[in-house]
Formats: sequence, C-alpha cells, structure tokens
Amino acid sequence: MARITALYGSPRREGNTSVLLRKTVEGARQEGALVEEFFLRDLRISPCLELYGCKETGRCVIDDDFHRVAEAIQESQGVILASPIFFYTVSAHTKIFMDRCQSLWVKRYWIDGVPFGSKDFVRRGLFIAAGATKGKKLFDGVLLTARYFFDALGADLWDSLLVRGVDAEGDVLQHPEHLKTAHEKGKEFARMLQGAAKKD
Ligand SMILES: Cc1cc2nc3c(=O)[nH]c(=O)nc-3n(C[C@H](O)[C@H](O)[C@H](O)COP(=O)(O)O)c2cc1C
Repeated sequence: MARITALYGSPRREGNTSVLLRKTVEGARQEGALVEEFFLRDLRISPCLELYGCKETGRCVIDDDFHRVAEAIQESQGVILASPIFFYTVSAHTKIFMDRCQSLWVKRYWIDGVPFGSKDFVRRGLFIAAGATKGKKLFDGVLLTARYFFDALGADLWDSLLVRGVDAEGDVLQHPEHLKTAHEKGKEFARMLQGAAKKD
C-alpha cells in the first residue's frame, strides 16, 4: 500500500489550496493509498536557526513538531504539498517548514553521500498552488522552490496542479473543473506510486 504525506500550507483551513488538496487526498484514498495529513498552520515549527546540528546525524536539533512531519515523510513514497502564492513564492508557514527540511538535505547529500544532481529518488512529489492573478509567470519562482524542496526529501517533482485567478476563501469551489482535476490527480498519483512499489 502506498503511503502519502499531505501538507496543507495555507493559513486558511478552508482556503483554495486546502480545498484542492482535500480533493486530491480523497482521490488518492479511493485508490487505496494511506494518507497522513498535516496542517502546517496548526503545528509548532520554528524557523531554521542555521545551527547545523544536523551535520552529525541528519536530525534537526530543534525540538518541535517538525519531527512528526519529517518522520511521516520518510515513511512515505509520496508527498503532496499545497501552498497559496504569496509574493510569487510559497506561504510563510510552508517556507518555514521547507527551511527546516535543510536537515534532510544535509542527510541526503552530506551524510548519505548522494552525489549532487543525482536522479536517484526514492519518493515522488505532487505540488499544488493557487494565486489570485493570471500572469504567465505567476508560478515560475515557486516551481523552482518546490522542485528543490522535493529534492531535499529525496523526491522528484512528479506533477503539479497550478490554479490562477482564485482569491477569496473558497473561490475555487466555483470551478468544478479544478476540483475534478485535483481528484483525478490524487487517483493517478496513488496508482503511479502503487505501480512503482510493485516494480521494486
Ligand atoms: C500575503 C499575501 C500575498 C499574496 N501574494 C500574491 C501574489 O504574489 N500573486 C498572486 O497572484 N496572489 C497573491 N496573493 C493571493 C493568494 O495567492 C490567493 O488569495 C490564493 O487563492 C490563496 O490561497 P489559499 O486560499 O489556499 O490560502 C497573496 C495573498 C496574500 C495574503
């Protein structure tokens, strides 16, 4: 059975990215995946303090809720991250979590000795984002951020769901086509992970 960690990065519990992620999770569960959900806004997670205590073992030395999420990710084959676009990047809740994942980057590249640029990924990532505007470059910055965040987790960016033109809480509910895509992507993600597990 595929295990997936789902990260809600919006400060709004019923925000657009939360609605999309919930639909994705629903789809993945329908395909039999075991999904653990974390609302980053509800967790006590310090920003990275650049102590580099993680250099010894790959474990961050700050004692807070980060470890619960990191452990779930390490036991997962799939990670889904959903964040609103804030100033062309992820939300602060999401970015604080991402920066703490530098400890996982240290483990992967410095401790375990994975060569830089390696495509040897043990998990897959799915990224969901929503923004108010409709500009062509709206997701350019955040896609790089997401790609290198997943890389630190030992995951490649398998796919993304990017929604423009939604602003107020729940605006996305007026777009059944996006909800359908989110649901389908969740199903496809779980099927892909299950297929990959069978090959191993
Ligand atoms: C602090 C802040 C910064 C934002 N920056 C952008 C931005 O750079 N580009 C954009 O299109 N929308 C921006 N928005 C709008 C949100 O991306 C939009 O409302 C989105 O649907 C929120 O998703 P959520 O409901 O999942 O939180 C910003 C909103 C806030 C509160």
